Order: sequence, then structure tokens, then C-alpha cells
Amino acid sequence: MRLLYAFLLATWAWGSSGTIQDPASLVLPFIGTTNGGHVFPGKTPSPSRVMSPEQSLARCDTPKWNGKGRDGHRLVGKRELKSQAGYDADPIFNAIGFSQLHDSGTGGGIPLSNFKLWPIANCTSFGRCRTSSFIRGIQRKILNDNTPDDFASPGYFSTNLSSDIRVELAAARRAALHRYTFPSSSTIPRMIVGIDDGQHSGRDQELTINSKTARVQGGATFSGSFGPGEYRAFACADFKGEGFDLGAPEEFGLWQSNSPTQGATNLKDISDGFSSEVGALFGFQQAANGSTTILARVGVSFISSEQACRNAEEDIPDFDFDRVHGENRAQWNDLLGRIQVDTTGVSEDTVKLFYSSVYRSYISPADYSGENPKWNSTEPYYDSYYCNWDTYRTLYSLMALQDPEKFARIVRAMIDIQKNEGWLPECRGATLQQLIQGGSNADPILGEFWVKYHDQAAALGVNGDDLYTALLADAENESPNWDLQGRQADAWKTLNYIPHDTIDFRGTNTRQVSRTLEYAFDDFAISQVAKIRGNAQDAAKYAKRAGNYFNVWNPNTTVPGTPSIKGMMQPRLSNGTFDFTDPRHCSIHDPTHSTCFLDSNNHDGFYEGPVDEVFAGKLFFASPSSIDLLNVSSSFIDRLDFIFEEGYFEPTDEPSQQMPYMYHYANRPGLSTQRSRQVIAQNFRTTVDGLPGNDDSGAMGSYAAFYLAGLYPLPATRQFLLSSPYFPSISFFNPLFNSTTTIKSIGFEGNPESGTGGKVFVQSVSVNGQPYKSNCYLEWDVFTSGSTVELTLTDDVGVTCGDGPDALPPSLSTGGYD
Ligand SMILES: *[C@@H]1O[C@H](CO)[C@@H](O)[C@H](O)[C@H]1NC(C)=O
Ligand SMILES: *[C@@H]1O[C@H](CO)[C@@H](O)[C@H](O)[C@H]1NC(C)=O
Ligand SMILES: *[C@@H]1O[C@H](CO)[C@@H](O)[C@H](O)[C@H]1NC(C)=O
Ligand SMILES: *[C@@H]1O[C@H](CO)[C@@H](O)[C@H](O)[C@H]1NC(C)=O
Ligand SMILES: *[C@@H]1O[C@H](CO)[C@@H](O)[C@H](O)[C@H]1NC(C)=O
Ligand SMILES: *[C@@H]1O[C@H](CO)[C@@H](O)[C@H](O)[C@H]1NC(C)=O
Ligand SMILES: *[C@@H]1O[C@H](CO)[C@@H](O)[C@H](O)[C@H]1NC(C)=O
Ligand SMILES: *[C@@H]1O[C@H](CO)[C@@H](O)[C@H](O)[C@H]1NC(C)=O
Repeated sequence: MRLLYAFLLATWAWGSSGTIQDPASLVLPFIGTTNGGHVFPGKTPSPSRVMSPEQSLARCDTPKWNGKGRDGHRLVGKRELKSQAGYDADPIFNAIGFSQLHDSGTGGGIPLSNFKLWPIANCTSFGRCRTSSFIRGIQRKILNDNTPDDFASPGYFSTNLSSDIRVELAAARRAALHRYTFPSSSTIPRMIVGIDDGQHSGRDQELTINSKTARVQGGATFSGSFGPGEYRAFACADFKGEGFDLGAPEEFGLWQSNSPTQGATNLKDISDGFSSEVGALFGFQQAANGSTTILARVGVSFISSEQACRNAEEDIPDFDFDRVHGENRAQWNDLLGRIQVDTTGVSEDTVKLFYSSVYRSYISPADYSGENPKWNSTEPYYDSYYCNWDTYRTLYSLMALQDPEKFARIVRAMIDIQKNEGWLPECRGATLQQLIQGGSNADPILGEFWVKYHDQAAALGVNGDDLYTALLADAENESPNWDLQGRQADAWKTLNYIPHDTIDFRGTNTRQVSRTLEYAFDDFAISQVAKIRGNAQDAAKYAKRAGNYFNVWNPNTTVPGTPSIKGMMQPRLSNGTFDFTDPRHCSIHDPTHSTCFLDSNNHDGFYEGPVDEVFAGKLFFASPSSIDLLNVSSSFIDRLDFIFEEGYFEPTDEPSQQMPYMYHYANRPGLSTQRSRQVIAQNFRTTVDGLPGNDDSGAMGSYAAFYLAGLYPLPATRQFLLSSPYFPSISFFNPLFNSTTTIKSIGFEGNPESGTGGKVFVQSVSVNGQPYKSNCYLEWDVFTSGSTVELTLTDDVGVTCGDGPDALPPSLSTGGYD
């Protein structure tokens, strides 16, 4: 069966050279598009293209439940019928339009989802067309297996509506091209262009149409989706017949809510000022042979509708759907193809899970260069960091391996934001500062860049002084609002932890223990940068502050009912006395079913994870001093086993991502291999509900990609923890160094489906034919120089990191990272 899979794949994805020529064909964009995954499956602009203020353009917006839900937020039973990405694979969601801007995999309110186009096959008359997105929705066609008739691949989306209209979408830099094919029974094919968003928050709209050319220009003010603030966004739509001359529209007008006014061309003339949704409505002439195909080109901008028109004209001058789609796909293939895998003996699902996970790592952040309404700059401008707290752990380390040029542009954009606003971005969306979940987690992202690319930084346009200045602003300056920017720095500097009792009106007094651990890690990243910059004094200062996690460690706290599990991170009062949070808090054993999200009634000091998990998941940079906290490494292993076996491991949120690999620090890498493979087996599938929780803007995608590659990154260090890849061979091409590093598994026999057992444990490692110093990690220079790494596999889970002095992964408490 496995061989058959490999053969089938070879016929459509492989080239004659044995490399995967069309990895885009292995991407399943629908993974995580229902059941709360909030993944956006529509066409995404190519990653290597410089521009894309919309990180993905039009998509099928389906936040309505068969016309019964009023606003897409209705709860049916326990199920929340809203879709942050604007799409849900579940057929109970109706289609209501195809919008231009979106995020992928987020929580919060529905972000963006602006400017929905909607085709109408037939209305009784212009004035009776259903224009409001609340009531115009219809089902997609439902296939025999009860799935909607939707298709997506990188850069392309199509669906067949129950109105017999076929919809296809492709994306360019700042513009989308839509193709609507109407049935011949549609004698007046009509199109809606909405000036709207996913939250129905639009106000102060502007909208004009040209009655001869059917050009639509409009914009409005909309609300941020995960915090305060408003943004303005603009669109410009043009239409063209495919294969026939569309001519001037036969009918035209504007609408507000569900009320079209035929003949109106300027919203000012009819506006009631109260509608959150307004738009244009056209009736076009039918094509002579009855099969009317209308192309709609929609430019977007955060500056003006004139700029939206220019963007559209520049990006898609020709209305050539196949060109737009083909260029986009070629760019995805260039990016995805930098990682090559040998699929011999590997299931098709695993290959697709891998490339789909890599794909989702490159949807956010988005390149909004030239579209920043807040200041003019020659630096790149990236937006949609939703949020750095989610993505700093794995996403940028994948980018460091695969796309250093893009990484450098994002770092430059972050530094430019700090120069202009005073603070690095944390959770930025639609040009707005949004709510911070953890620390100032741009710090480890900049740290990751500097540790890996300081020698190339100048050539990549990154100024080291500016980067360091930006980091110090986070580390040293008290933020006037630490919910949106920076840190609660004064308390951090005076107490060396975040106190549980002090009420400070500059931010929400919650998540104190979690923030202590995040600030500690942020300072670790800064110490790494300082060290490379030759600033030994700062390196020592921030390394010391990285040890502040110890200040919230109460060695006496136990899990109720399990006294042997002793020592916990705990909230601490400003006078030094410990407060108490039940370590079962937020776990499946929580007797009080408390929340650990951003709610104001979360007073326990923790965020998105049980207490024990927060402990074990955050401290890799200090391990084995986190092992020292428990005094002996055998009890550290017991502790990790307890977390997994008793259900404290939380796969849906990021604080736990590191935990399966923590066995490395106790010299038991085989246990890491097994746990990480069990996490994949139990939580990641290629199905529409194949994700644990939200994808969080690629945080889960990059995490799964690393697990499948047999690596786990340690951001802001030169090390990757090492396990065994799911492939007999995997190679990483770095375009900056023009080097390829290949990891080969000697004796590969496939991957046990349950993740348990198998010949998957790393017994020994050689690099370029020489025995390597450790079986537990690889240094960055292995990847920069282009190396052949050979892993000898065994079925013995009891393997170790090796015998040499450098066998264990480095850590702060054993002398730090070189
Ligand atoms: C929609 O219908 C067309 C035929 O009209 C077909 O080619 C296509 O595969 C169908 N499905 C999708 C998702 O486009
Ligand atoms: C469109 O509406 C007209 C008038 O109600 C009706 O005769 C015709 O069948 C409809 N066409 C379609 C495609 O529904
Ligand atoms: C109608 O004409 C267009 C343009 O020439 C062509 O692409 C399309 O295939 C034709 N459709 C039918 C049903 O003949
Ligand atoms: C940027 O420059 C343009 C052209 O000079 C100007 O119109 C615009 O107001 C400037 N934007 C900002 C935010 O300063
Ligand atoms: C833990 O218990 C020991 C022994 O009772 C005590 O000396 C120590 O102060 C306690 N530590 C904390 C932080 O409560
Ligand atoms: C710290 O404050 C708490 C709460 O007010 C109090 O119960 C505790 O005794 C204080 N500890 C010290 C050492 O003063
Ligand atoms: C570890 O054990 C030693 C004595 O066995 C004790 O002095 C020390 O405080 C312990 N460390 C922690 C962090 O509990
Ligand atoms: C990159 O490396 C390959 C061989 O590994 C070589 O053929 C090619 O010329 C190199 N390209 C550049 C731009 O140096």
C-alpha cells in the first residue's frame, strides 16, 4: 500500500530527477477549516512576492448558518457559529460572499474579511435583489459525501454554489482576480461589491460607481478584531467579460443593508449613515451563447481607493486568470520545494501533512509595504502578527531555514514599527496594536534573526544598532499600556517577577506568572544578541534576568492528591509571599473549570495552560536548571511522564509545544521522539478538523512541520533539538547560502501510526562522515555550510545523547549557549 502511494504521488508531483517539482499539489489548504481551526483555505498570494497587503485575497465567506443565524456569532448548542478565517468546511455554513482581506487561524473577533463580492443568478427585479450578507447567503453545492463542492490549492480557490454559479479565485500582490461563470438560465447576471467587513463594523463609508465602466471605488472605517482601535481600508473593483465584450452594465445602483437604489452612483446621495454594510449592484448583459463568464478584479489598499485602483492595474493589468494563478503557484513551489523529502515508505497522508504544515507557516505575517497609513518609510511594512506570542516558538526558525530574505524584511519592518511607535509589535492586525497575551515576544524573533544571521544582517538591510535599541525599549521602558505594547517593566526591574497583588492601571493585572516566564525568555533572547554584539556587560545582565523564572518557583506546592508531584510555578505577592493557584487549574482535572484565557476573571496568574505545563514548557533555555529545580533528573522524567499520562499536556495552545522534547535535557531523547510522535498521531491529521485548536497564524503549522522533520527549534540559539524525521531523507535548501543540508535516516523502516515504538530512535549521528558531538541536537553551522547528516536508527527507546562533554544540549545553567 505504501509503495502504491509513492507511485501514485510520483505521477503527479514528482519530476524525473526524484525531486518534488510541484509540492503545491501536496498542500491541503482545507486542513483546520472547521471545528475551530479557523484556517483560511482561499487563495493566498505567493510568499516570495514582495507585496501583499492582503495576506490572502478573496475567499468564500461562510459565517452564516443556513440563513438562520443572524450575524454569524450565534451559538448552536456548544458550537460557536463564527469563522474567523471567513470560511468553514462544514456544509451547514452558507456562502455569503468572496472577500479580499483575511487572517488565518486566529481567535478573537472575525478579523478583516472586507469587500465581499457576491454573484446573483437571478432576482425578480433589481430593487428586490437580496443585498445584505445577513440574508443573501445560499448553500454551496453539496457532494454525495456531504462535503461542499469546494476546491483549494495554494493561490487558488473554487466552489460551485447551489445557484449553479461557479466561482474561482486567484491572488496577485495587492489584487485578486475572481471568475464567475453563470448558468445560461441567468438572463441578467448580477454582481454585488460590498464595502463591508466580517464584524459588520463598517462606518463612514465612501462609495462611488461609474455607470459606464462599472468601476467601484469605496472604503470605510472598521473595528480591530482583537483589541481596541479602528482602521480604514479601501477597494477598487473592475469587471470584464471572458470571451465576450461585457459592455456597460444594463443595471446599476447602490445598496445599504438590504435596500438597493437603482441609478444611484454616489453613496453620499442616498446614505442613511447607519448601515454597517453598503455596496454596489450591477446587472450585466448575458453572453451571446448563454454561458456568461465575468472576471472581477479587486484591488485593495489601506491608503485610499485611488491607490487600490493603481494596485489592481499594476498587479493584474491583463485580467489573465491563468497567468495570475500560475505565477502564484510557481512562487509557492519555489518556497515549498526548498524542503525536499524522500517519500519511500512514507504514507501519502504524512507527506501531505508535512507540506500543508509548511504552507500554513507562510500565510502570516503579511507584506503590507507601501500600504502603511501611519507613516511613510522606505523600510518594508509587515502586518498581521496574530500574535508573536504564538509564532515566536517555531515559525521564524522555519523561516530561518527556508526564507532568510523574507525573515530579514519582517525584522526590518518590526524595527521600523519600533522607531515610529516606540515599541516592537506584538499582536498587530489591520495596522492596529492588539491585545498582548504573553511578553514582548518580538524579542525572541529578533534574537532568532540575529543569532542566525548577524554576519549577513547588513547585506540583508538589518541594522544591528537599531535592532538592539528596539530590544532595549521592550526590556527597559515601562509601557503606558502593557496590554498593547511593551512590558510591565518597572515591576520586572524592581521585583524581578510580576507581582500577583499590585494593581496597576497601565494594564490588565492578570497572567502574572506566565508573563514572568515570558519576560525571562525575552531577556534570554536579548542576552544572546548582546553577547554576539560583544556587549558582555549587557549579556550578563540579561542572562541574569533570564533566571528570574526562579523567583516564582515554590518548591513546596503540590498537586492535590499527588504529593509526590512537588514544586510549582506559583503567583507571588509584591511582599515576596507566595499566593496559591491550584496546579490543576485549566487542566482536565480542574475542579473549578476555570478559564485561562484573556478574560478579566482569570485571576490565577496563568495563561493558556495548566500550571505544571507552563513550568515544563517554558524553561528549555534554562534547562537543566529547570531540572535542578526538581533536584534530580529522574524525578524530572517522572514529572514529564506525569504531565503526559495524567492529561496535563495541552496540545491546543503554544506553551506546551516544547514539552515533548524536554526529555532531551534528561539525556532520554528516545522519550522525546516517542512523545512528539504521539502528539502528531493524536492531534494532527489531513482532515478538515485535523488541527488541535486554532492554527494561530501558522504557529501550529510550523510546529507540526518541525516535529515531522525530526527537529525542534530553540529560538534565539544556534541549536535545533534532534529527533528522527518521518522521511528516509529530508533536505533543506537555503537560498542565501546556496547550500543544501540533508538529514538521512539509516535503516528507516517507516513511521508507526500510533507514534509509539518503531525503529525511529536516534542511536548515533554523523555529519559529513564524522561522528557528531551529540545525538540530541544540531548546530546552526550544520545548516549554513550544507552538510550530510546521517542518523543511525534503532528500535531501542533507551538511547542517549551520547558520551562526550557536549552531548547534552547546552543551557544557561551549564554555561550558556555559544
Ligand atoms: C464545479 O463545477 C465544475 C463544472 O462546472 C467542475 O469542473 C468543478 O470541478 C466543480 N467543483 C469545483 C470545486 O470547482
Ligand atoms: C428568474 O426569474 C424569472 C422570473 O421570476 C423566472 O421566470 C426564471 O425562471 C428565473 N430564472 C432562474 C435561473 O431562476
Ligand atoms: C461561450 O463563449 C465563450 C467565449 O467564446 C466560450 O469560452 C464558452 O466556452 C462558450 N460556452 C458555451 C457553452 O458554448
Ligand atoms: C506620506 O507621503 C504622502 C506623499 O507625500 C503624503 O500624502 C502622506 O500624507 C504621507 N503619509 C503620512 C502618514 O505621513
Ligand atoms: C518550603 O518549606 C520549607 C520547609 O517547611 C520552608 O522552610 C520553606 O520556607 C518553604 N518555602 C516556601 C517558598 O514556602
Ligand atoms: C504579604 O502580604 C500578604 C497579604 O497581605 C500577607 O498575608 C503576608 O503575611 C505578607 N507577608 C509578609 C512577609 O509580610
Ligand atoms: C534541592 O535539594 C537540596 C538539598 O537536597 C536543597 O538544599 C535545595 O534547596 C533543593 N533545591 C530546590 C530548588 O528545591
Ligand atoms: C549554487 O550551488 C550550485 C551547486 O551546489 C551551483 O551549481 C550554483 O552555481 C550555485 N549558485 C550560485 C548563485 O552560486
